[in-house]
Amino acid sequence: MDENMHILKQGIVIAIDGPAGTGKSSVTRLLAERLGFIHIDTGALYRAIAYLAHGQNDGNNVLEPKASQLAKTAHLEFKLNPKLVPVNRIFANGSDVTDFIRTPLISMLASQVSSYSQVRAALLGLQRRLGCQGNSILEGRDIGTVIFPDADLKFFLTASSFERARRRFLELKENGGDAPPLSELKKQIQKRDLQDSSRAVAPLKKAQDALTVNTTKMTLDEVVSTLENRIKKYFSKSTCK
Ligand code: DC
Repeated sequence: MDENMHILKQGIVIAIDGPAGTGKSSVTRLLAERLGFIHIDTGALYRAIAYLAHGQNDGNNVLEPKASQLAKTAHLEFKLNPKLVPVNRIFANGSDVTDFIRTPLISMLASQVSSYSQVRAALLGLQRRLGCQGNSILEGRDIGTVIFPDADLKFFLTASSFERARRRFLELKENGGDAPPLSELKKQIQKRDLQDSSRAVAPLKKAQDALTVNTTKMTLDEVVSTLENRIKKYFSKSTCK
């Protein structure tokens, strides 16, 4: 816990939602480190289900029965790997799948499986349990609207689709993978945005009481500092004089 932050309250939940490529994961990871909070990347849960389902399928489509059965039965957990800090690793049925779930194909399949109501229902309790393990920051699409509508603080990150595609491109390159051309990545991001925000169940949406932060022209450090200052200001308010 940041020693300058005198938080008396326990069980704080902070929600960070927003579309793909707004920097949610990096921002949440750094913010959690600075504040000593638990970081929960809820997108990784949908990605892990998509990855497991894809491994049992030939095509590039995951049907609802398969995805829901996996979401109900798979054992998903986050663990810190001391050799691979600071990344929080995700394990599915005992195997570390972290390195396989960030490809463009799994991104699209994760978006598809996340539109299935039974998948969302199966992962809801898990997300709430993870968020209630201690002070935590959860990132996703519906944290502030569905998973933790009473979260202490909510943020909604945005950025232009060009900037988001550019960030994804750099991320894929940095991870040593093949990166499709920027124009293709932009199309994929826009397709995923549409899919995530137009689905019937828990669509990507800003909670009414969330603070929007447009990160298009901000550096990662600026975004983290903006959120950190806001959080500290919020929790330093004291009702006792
Ligand atoms: O945040 P991400 O790009 O890793 O998420 C992958 C997909 O999972 C995303 O396209 C939509 C879905 N998702 C969701 O529906 N709800 C969440 N809370 C998190 C992710």
